[in-house]
Amino acid sequence: MTTEIKEEDIARLVPAFYERVRQDRVLGPIFNGAIDDWHHHLGKLQDFWSSVMLTTGRYKGQPMVAHVRHAKHMTADNFARWLALWREVSGELLSPAAATAFQQKADRIAESLQLGVQFYRER
Ligand code: HEM
Repeated sequence: MTTEIKEEDIARLVPAFYERVRQDRVLGPIFNGAIDDWHHHLGKLQDFWSSVMLTTGRYKGQPMVAHVRHAKHMTADNFARWLALWREVSGELLSPAAATAFQQKADRIAESLQLGVQFYRER
């Protein structure tokens, strides 16, 4: 059976996740230091996840460029922490099947972001 994911899941997950990120001892200062307009960021991230999970094509940005800009924070430990929070919040808010689908996508995207940032950093 395929897991049904709804816009509404994304609209609950994304703000709750960044709320948790902003309170995190390690990730909080990084995000709070980089992002001024949280309303805009949350809208963009909802578009991103809508494009990823529902193929709506709403997100038009370049995640690699955005993360290379903050390369010094893109460490293996920070990725692990980001993914642990994502797992925690998605597990709390979504059905087990939906949570697993969001977690697997995030794992894959994190892996490619990490490889990409490493590549640009080493040049
Ligand atoms: C944007 C940090 C992992 C998706 C950003 C920004 C920061 C950041 C600071 C704002 C960039 C700016 O506007 O200057 C981090 C850190 C991570 C991490 C510290 C882990 C070490 C991830 C992962 C994903 C993700 C795993 C996806 C699964 C995005 C997206 C944007 C973004 C879509 C918006 C890019 C744009 O401006 O179009 N991130 N991020 N990030 N992040 Fe991350």
